[in-house]
Amino acid sequence: MIGLHLLLLLAPGLLHAQDYAPPRYNVSLDRPPEQRWEPVLRHYNHTELKEAMEHILRTTLPGWVHAIIRPLAEAELLFLVRKEYAGEIKGIARTLGVNLGDVVALNLCYEATAFCTSIIAQDNNGNVYHGRNLDYNFPEILKKLTLDLDFIKDGKVAYTGTTFVGYIGLWTGQRPYEFTISGDARERGEWWKNAISAFFKRNSPVSWLIRDALNDDRDFEAAALRLAKTPIIAETYYIIGGTESKEGLVITRNRDGPADLWPLDPLRGEWFHVETNYDHWTTPPPSDDRRTPAINAMNATGQANINTETLFKVLSVKPVMNSITVYTTVMSAAIPEKYTTWVRSKV
Ligand SMILES: *[C@@H]1O[C@H](CO)[C@@H](O)[C@H](O)[C@H]1NC(C)=O
Ligand SMILES: *[C@@H]1O[C@H](CO)[C@@H](O)[C@H](O)[C@H]1NC(C)=O
Ligand SMILES: *[C@@H]1O[C@H](CO)[C@@H](O)[C@H](O)[C@H]1NC(C)=O
Repeated sequence: MIGLHLLLLLAPGLLHAQDYAPPRYNVSLDRPPEQRWEPVLRHYNHTELKEAMEHILRTTLPGWVHAIIRPLAEAELLFLVRKEYAGEIKGIARTLGVNLGDVVALNLCYEATAFCTSIIAQDNNGNVYHGRNLDYNFPEILKKLTLDLDFIKDGKVAYTGTTFVGYIGLWTGQRPYEFTISGDARERGEWWKNAISAFFKRNSPVSWLIRDALNDDRDFEAAALRLAKTPIIAETYYIIGGTESKEGLVITRNRDGPADLWPLDPLRGEWFHVETNYDHWTTPPPSDDRRTPAINAMNATGQANINTETLFKVLSVKPVMNSITVYTTVMSAAIPEKYTTWVRSKV
């Protein structure tokens, strides 16, 4: 919080009047999966949550996908492998009194449609910083659902993440003193067919793999390896930061494995990488170029001055931040208390 006060002093007006920190709750991994989300859901009006869920399902999911998932979820065919996450989804459905298939479907809705910007950078002393904007089509609904979560194991924070109520995967997270991860979508258009067939082949949803890494991996390398090679249901970009110099990597993913690995290379001047929703070796379309303004803002900031506060400023530059930006998170695994999310006001 000291950092943010400083930011306010240094840059009055930058933090828009309506930007606010989302609620932050604990999720205890020591509780059975079916019971983990109940204390979080207690903070919300269930009628409103159900309305939001219905809206998201109706506007995101093709009817045929919903029609397939519902009966299969009921028959538990989807859950042969991922017992822990299945338990969490069942607990959420039961607590809210909604159809299990709807919660499964909701948990697949965000897989490939998030437009995002992620930046990984290191300063002159080798400290690594990581920031992301999450952009999505109905930002006003998602702003109300955004929350930061500390996942507690044996009385300690095992990892921290940012997500939407009812969604058990993570697109943004940190394992303290080890690594940080964000995910940006890579797919366009007709991706559902492939995603659903991959799901039935037991590929992992993109955001579940991030959570797996945060939950199970002990260091940057192990997490990077998992994120690079594990089969997933939709193409994506994984951005990962560590605690030491050069521990910054953008992984461009096909469903079955890596398409490209793009590490920081500070000795050759590459002290940061910006990843939006286009392969880094291609040029983004002029109609959606958030990359160039972000690079310019990073260059203007300079390596000597980069930290979580200045990274937040870069992520606030238009159109890096835009009318569908839901939230901005900045983080640095070596200083886990800096993990900060702001729900953004409409620009
Ligand atoms: C929950 O939201 C609904 C719909 O907005 C409202 O009618 C109801 O009074 C709310 N319930 C509580 C307990 O606030
Ligand atoms: C969350 O868990 C941590 C670690 O056990 C604890 O220190 C903290 O007080 C908890 N926060 C809340 C809001 O319960
Ligand atoms: C940013 O700075 C680097 C190194 O000075 C330079 O190569 C690059 O062209 C600059 N990018 C932009 C978009 O100005």
